[in-house]
Amino acid sequence: MTEGLVTVRTIADLRETVSAWRASGLRIGLVPTMGALHEGHITLVKTALSKCDRVIATIFVNPKQFGENEDFGTYPRTEVEDAAKLEAAGGHLLFAPNVVEMYGKDGCVSNVTVAGLGNVIEGEFRPGFFDGVATVVTKLLLQALPDVAFFGEKDFQQLNVIQRFVTDLNIPCEIEGVPTVRETDGLALSSRNAYLTPEERKTAPRLYQVISEFSKRFDNGENAASLSNWATKQLLEAGFHKIDYVLVKNADDLTSEAESGKPKRVLVAAFLGKARLIDNVA
Ligand code: PAJ
Repeated sequence: MTEGLVTVRTIADLRETVSAWRASGLRIGLVPTMGALHEGHITLVKTALSKCDRVIATIFVNPKQFGENEDFGTYPRTEVEDAAKLEAAGGHLLFAPNVVEMYGKDGCVSNVTVAGLGNVIEGEFRPGFFDGVATVVTKLLLQALPDVAFFGEKDFQQLNVIQRFVTDLNIPCEIEGVPTVRETDGLALSSRNAYLTPEERKTAPRLYQVISEFSKRFDNGENAASLSNWATKQLLEAGFHKIDYVLVKNADDLTSEAESGKPKRVLVAAFLGKARLIDNVA
């Protein structure tokens, strides 16, 4: 039985609850999100519940990680439904601060930057994006001081960026990756799938099919550059209209070219209608 979800909106209230839990020796898990929760997010919460005594979910649509022409204004905001889903999953605490609580009324001029890793692949197409993510996740980790925080492999480069600055800055928190949750047709769950028209929704699973085939053919010895060209063509023919990247890199160092004998990751970002979809496979 759930004890019910409590919502707090201030850092002070968050810390008060966490301090009491910590004083009782409870293990605390954190699941940061931007809301519009789906089964992918809820799987993070359930994974956290299986490994922790108390689970905090956060909902904050972080303005610092949206570019000027991106969807900050229209990003889905569904807190009432989200809270119901968190409660049903067994989550204990929802931290949902507003922008002033998070960044202060005079703003926040300090940033966490992961040089190199934060500027390649996704970082190349969304300048400042990983600074925004790294800064807000640093703040959330320091605000909540969890024992462990959970992030989806769906955003594989984001997970690597977070692991890197947590190590570099000695933030005393474990970071755990959770495998991507998919629809039965393979499409990775994403809040941005809501932007797809019914017709585009039928096309969307091609993204996963194409990178899965890329991965298989790369393992069979085909060349990375020609597979990128092949995959780009496949996606354009399927109806995607702008392919930002489709490539293979070393999974533990996305800044270096894929080398044999090392685990690798195929990563893609492409536009379908209004939606920019990203995905990756091992
Ligand atoms: P958001 O896109 O809401 O995602 C929150 C968490 O859910 C991330 O760790 C993301 O990787 C994970 N997630 C999303 N879709 C998933 C899926 N289909 N399967 C498994 N996990 C999935 O990512 C962010 O928010 C933000 O950048 C954030 C880390 C909260 C910082 O603002």
